[in-house]
Amino acid sequence: MKKQIALLLGDGIGQEVIQSAVEVLDAVADEYGHKFEFESFDIGGAAIDRHETPLPDKTIRGCEQADAVLLGAVGGPRWENHPSHLRPEKGLLGIRKALGLFANLRPVKGFPQLLHASPLKEEVVSGSDLLIIRELTGGLYFGEPSEIREDGQSVVDTLAYQRHEIERIVDQAFQSARLRRKHLTSVDKANVLESSKLWREVVEEKRKDYPDVAVEHLLVDAAAMKLITDPTQFDVIVTENMFGDILSDEASVLTGSLGMLPSASLRTDGVGLYEPVHGSAPDIAGQGLANPLAMILSTALMLRHSFQLEEEAKAVEEAVQETLRLGYHTADLNVVEGEQVGTDVMTRLVVEGISSRSTSESIMSC
Ligand code: NAD
Ligand code: IPM
Ligand code: MN
Repeated sequence: MKKQIALLLGDGIGQEVIQSAVEVLDAVADEYGHKFEFESFDIGGAAIDRHETPLPDKTIRGCEQADAVLLGAVGGPRWENHPSHLRPEKGLLGIRKALGLFANLRPVKGFPQLLHASPLKEEVVSGSDLLIIRELTGGLYFGEPSEIREDGQSVVDTLAYQRHEIERIVDQAFQSARLRRKHLTSVDKANVLESSKLWREVVEEKRKDYPDVAVEHLLVDAAAMKLITDPTQFDVIVTENMFGDILSDEASVLTGSLGMLPSASLRTDGVGLYEPVHGSAPDIAGQGLANPLAMILSTALMLRHSFQLEEEAKAVEEAVQETLRLGYHTADLNVVEGEQVGTDVMTRLVVEGISSRSTSESIMSC
């Protein structure tokens, strides 16, 4: 299989972990006889520095023409005081909107080797395996007006949703639940917000089309509490843009680190964008310390969702699992035993895990 992959490196550790993704995909290509071609495009702070915009047109075109997109992360203190249209984050929001990527899938599954890396009790975390489906192109992030008024004396942001925007993400969530344990938790703030009332109404309507899926509604404040006190009660969680942003960082605590969470940003048909949940981590950027696993696991999601290469996706995930089983971990993981390694070594170990598969399989088949 020959595929064209657009790389959006971004800033800080985004640039570091993208390198890991390329190495892993090169190993997959060698191992399984594929050809992955990469082309890099500017986004975020790096694009502001070079082109005075966080999202050059060339980047949008490059992504539209690619078979899939990988994004590192954007942002950093250097651009923090820029006006909003010249902030790196605007580039990320812009590419999601331009590509119509309304569904952000954020799987949260603790690796057994890392149960004790979570600050939560092992018996609480054990067995947790959930999927947060975050609406990605609506809500507070995109509502108009969003502006400073009266010379800074008042501000407004707008939380707006069209019914069809809620319907398509809820459909996606029901479909994902069907492929999993058939349990859907819809998270909202229907005791206060009009947008949440419509959200709940749509979920109630849609559930008639998916009678095999059990549905539960939770208010977001209670959901935040239950996510870390009783995470195994969740299978698929569907929620609006900002609630999903916050809950997914919180959920990363189950896995031991934000550096472990991958994500897939999808639309019904067409190009998908794969990005770690974490940001550009300015506090550790440039030191070779970043955990590349969230990015590497995002490449597995790309192989699965964009290219339908399930065996290859599993090979990546198993190589990650095996590396952790051997006791290797990066500094963000609170693990006492085993060996602490940096980004490069971690990546090399996963690459070796992928490359050694055919060797061990051929030995076994002899
Ligand atoms: P962050 O996710 O960058 O970092 C939060 C904490 O987690 C930091 O202590 C960091 O060192 C650690 N961390 C994150 N990823 C890690 C990894 N792979 N390995 C090891 N440690 C890791 O969030 P922040 O500090 O709030 O934001 C920094 C910048 O990133 C901001 O400009 C923000 O807007 C941006 N951001 C971008 C994205 C994205 O591009 N997708 C996502 C979140 C934040
Ligand atoms: C994420 C990030 C982004 C978001 C920021 C950087 C705009 O936090 O992808 O989770 O809030 O969507
Ligand atoms: Mn976030």
